[in-house]
Amino acid sequence: MNRGFYLPVKNEYAVAIDIGTTKIVTLIGRIKKNNVLEVIGYGLAGCKGIKKGIVIDLNDATKSILNSIEAAEKATKMFVDAAYIGVTGKHISIINNSSEININNPNKVVRKQDLERLLSKANRINISSQHEVIHTLIKQFTVDDEKGIVDPVGLATERLGVELLVIYGSSTLIKNTVNSVKNTNIEIEDVILEALASSEAVLTPEEKNSGVVLLDIGGGTTDVAIYKDKKMVFTYCLPVGGDLITNDISIGLNIPFSKAEDIKKKFANVDYNFYESLNNVNMGDIKIDRNKATLNIKLYTIVDSRVKELLQLIKEKIESYGFMYSVPCGLVITGGVSQMKGLKTMANSIFNLPVRIGAPIDTEGPSEVVNDPIYSTSVGLLRYAFQLKKFSSVEQFEEKNASLRSRFRDFISRILKS
Ligand SMILES: Nc1ncnc2c1ncn2[C@@H]1O[C@H](COP(=O)(O)OP(=O)(O)OP(=O)(O)O)[C@@H](O)[C@H]1O
Ligand SMILES: [Mg+2]
Repeated sequence: MNRGFYLPVKNEYAVAIDIGTTKIVTLIGRIKKNNVLEVIGYGLAGCKGIKKGIVIDLNDATKSILNSIEAAEKATKMFVDAAYIGVTGKHISIINNSSEININNPNKVVRKQDLERLLSKANRINISSQHEVIHTLIKQFTVDDEKGIVDPVGLATERLGVELLVIYGSSTLIKNTVNSVKNTNIEIEDVILEALASSEAVLTPEEKNSGVVLLDIGGGTTDVAIYKDKKMVFTYCLPVGGDLITNDISIGLNIPFSKAEDIKKKFANVDYNFYESLNNVNMGDIKIDRNKATLNIKLYTIVDSRVKELLQLIKEKIESYGFMYSVPCGLVITGGVSQMKGLKTMANSIFNLPVRIGAPIDTEGPSEVVNDPIYSTSVGLLRYAFQLKKFSSVEQFEEKNASLRSRFRDFISRILKS
């Protein structure tokens, strides 16, 4: 494969790489004039060397990433020299930070420099030297005691405040992910949290505004994000995903992992009504293949308990942070496991909230990409990449303060140099 023969990806396009536990996706796309994201080509490759969102074998990970990049290059006839990449894993943590300053100018009106002063004060966050900030998201501004201000510039007030959601992770683990991509000889444009990316791809503005929980259940991780009043207010990564379900099937039915994976995708169903129907048929209808029915019940029992456990763990987490009653739009589930039959019914009964299964929205491109929940993270990475490229106003959800930005750039360049 002669990668160098293609022309570099043009300026109006961006490249995103989703480094998942089971697969790597490279997407190349652009934002069209009507604000719709257009995916013009993609590369999908199986993944080795990544587990639960983190690199466990650098060479294997790099090879898988390269396979995916090369497939995307072949599809678009473009040469990828830089990309936005996703990070996740249980090392990701959050801090809520708020800060306030007095507005001292004679008119008592918030100016741009006041905003910068406030944000740089709010950004003095105590995290250990083993951690790095990935995002600083603005939840809201306050002027005097008035909350929910989107852009305070020009408003009159005595005091200006801000509430931030700071997302950070282990420097070493992020560095490993960055290096696995860097070893393919491409530049890293930025690192984006996968939960944030998936949310960007599948949640509607209305859901984000009213309050919603996003679950991206992949092969090795379940990424959680909660939105309220248009902003992300919480995120969490549970290092459990579909691989664990497959593993249980493999052990329970005494079959190899790959066979268990096939059976899971084709036959697993966690809807209680399905189980009931199996029982009824098994008892009443003598024409039914009893072995098949017994096997189905066994499969149901294994998968049901694993998926229930996963959803219960998430529910407990959400409850412990007090968000259960502030998410009227309920749950939007995406990622490969969202295709599990009966999942919607089960999640609905566990959370007692509305549930929908989400795939990318407002996206054009190959139908196998834009309609499939396994592409939510990569589509969202691409969408978010364009928002970062815009760098526009502070009313955007991410803080674009120059000092912070350079701090992050420092972090990336330190990683790249070391
Ligand atoms: N129809 C289906 N029913 C049940 N599970 C499914 C189905 N299709 C895919 N999956 C499961 O989805 C998982 C893969 O999902 P996805 O591609 O979102 O994960 P990933 O991005 O590689 O991993 P992660 O995000 O956890 O690092 C696998 O466990 C796979 O078995
Ligand atoms: Mg994933």
